[in-house]
Amino acid sequence: MQNKHLLKLLDLSREEIHEVLDLADQLKYDQKHGIPHEVLKGKTLAMIFSKNSTRTRVSFEVGMFQLGGHALFLSNAVSQIGRGEPVQDTARVLSRYCDGIMIRTFAQQEVEDLAKYGSIPVINGLTDFSHPCQVLADLMTIREHKAKLEGLKICYIGDGNNMANSIIVGGLKCGMNVSVACPADYQPHSDVLSFAGAVTDARFELTDDPMAAAKNADVIFTDVWASMGMEGEAAKRQHDFVSYQVNSDLLSVAHADCMVQHCLPAHRGEEITEEVFEAHAGEIFDEAENRLHAQKAVMALLMK
Ligand code: CP
Ligand code: NVA
Repeated sequence: MQNKHLLKLLDLSREEIHEVLDLADQLKYDQKHGIPHEVLKGKTLAMIFSKNSTRTRVSFEVGMFQLGGHALFLSNAVSQIGRGEPVQDTARVLSRYCDGIMIRTFAQQEVEDLAKYGSIPVINGLTDFSHPCQVLADLMTIREHKAKLEGLKICYIGDGNNMANSIIVGGLKCGMNVSVACPADYQPHSDVLSFAGAVTDARFELTDDPMAAAKNADVIFTDVWASMGMEGEAAKRQHDFVSYQVNSDLLSVAHADCMVQHCLPAHRGEEITEEVFEAHAGEIFDEAENRLHAQKAVMALLMK
């Protein structure tokens, strides 16, 4: 891996993404077969959380343990970060104790600044702009189920949020066709649309029509209508996104063997029906499991 950090998928080359996915497959195999892989023995990861988490916190902490290292949890409630200590100082302090930092926060700039002022690898565990670890796990899951990425059509339905941004970039970098259906007022980030617009072979489609986006899809993604930090808009969003639901009607225009992916947590009856969620639960929980393996690969590549 050329990159010293994982701040966003825009920074990674297609080769680097595949390097992560290949190592993730290997580490998953090793874990399942009891083959030791303690490549980060004696190393420590600091995990900063300014937002809630189940999967990210547990998979990073368990992953670090399985790699022979240690992870420590720094929530805003207990650290000085929560009392406003500048990120420049936190970066320099943690760089004196630890071997890597995972951060979940609001502004992408905070993650970029942590990398700029610190001297150890920084991994983005979700910002308002991106969720690169999730999409690496998603790509790993699709490749496991479909045996390839290139040429598949992936479709995202809903809010043009951190997940939409990362799916567009990750999918296009891996040679996939990417279609996105968002309401006009909830489009993906302009940096992501600029990147997608520069992909010259017409592999990107942005529409406000979910049925058009889902046509002949190999994989359909969705995510919550109100992300963390957007709770105050939840009622308005329930109204604005009502026709952006992944349901059996939508699946009927996709390929018969279309996968469904959801980063979780899911809101059944909102962005996805109970019926579709449970019919695709195997794929969705494979996706959740693969957070562990994909992040172990990221940590092994960045922190070894
Ligand atoms: N998908 C995901 O990042 O889950 P958590 O919010 O539980 O970490
Ligand atoms: N878009 C969601 C993803 C949660 C994993 C959020 O940011 O809350």
